Amino acid sequence: MGSQEKRDPLGRVAIALDTPDWSTYERWCEQFGPRVGVLKVGLEAFVRWGHEAVEMARHHARRVFLDLKLHDIPNTVSGAVLAARGSGVDLLTVHASGGEAMLEAAQQAAEDRLAILAVTLLTHLDERALEALDLPGSGLDRVQKWAGLAQATGCAGVVCSPLEVAALRERCPPPFLLVTPGIRLRASRGGQDDQRRVATPGEALLAGADLLVVGRPVTRAPDPEAVLREISRQIEEALTAI
Ligand code: C5P
Repeated sequence: MGSQEKRDPLGRVAIALDTPDWSTYERWCEQFGPRVGVLKVGLEAFVRWGHEAVEMARHHARRVFLDLKLHDIPNTVSGAVLAARGSGVDLLTVHASGGEAMLEAAQQAAEDRLAILAVTLLTHLDERALEALDLPGSGLDRVQKWAGLAQATGCAGVVCSPLEVAALRERCPPPFLLVTPGIRLRASRGGQDDQRRVATPGEALLAGADLLVVGRPVTRAPDPEAVLREISRQIEEALTAI
């Protein structure tokens, strides 16, 4: 474990800024931006406030993750990636299921100016939901195949469930990034919102995750600082064990 990480365990955390209220958004940017490695601007914020949401996050954050999960024809995705590049974000998501040509177009438009992350399977999808979508085979097989595609097309990494990280890490060594939402503190298990495939910060880190996306467990907590301290403690413990 590097000494930089020892001093800065929350550098491995991205806070999801999902709220319909601008003053809350602004407060979260101020409160969490300097504390964690990344602020994540999601669909909700971007559709409501557009570039202003990105600018506010950039003003306070060390790095900004624009989580738009793009999925369209290659030419359109390429144009959107160029626009994101122009707005100075550091990470951007596209859907791996958009296929090889779309991933290549995204990566080419990004050059080395921002990191393209391919979303594999959304973490709210459990086996039943996948069956209803008529997606046969195991979720993990699909995730591995799509991660391989992301790697082959030059993407910087993937977004995956923490429960898939260990298998993916074997197949995709660093510097390929494994970014995991679906993080829940042990104490809050049972109250998992709409996330189905979840793990604690420590479990995800030990499995090989690079960046943990955390939203509601921090932003909706009565005492977000206490939750950040607990996450930081778990990360430090996990990194010491690696
Ligand atoms: O509040 P919570 O911790 O569940 O937030 C998770 C964040 O990660 C949300 O902003 C969600 O959009 C995002 N995300 C996810 N699953 C993915 C990709 C992104 O939950 N596969």
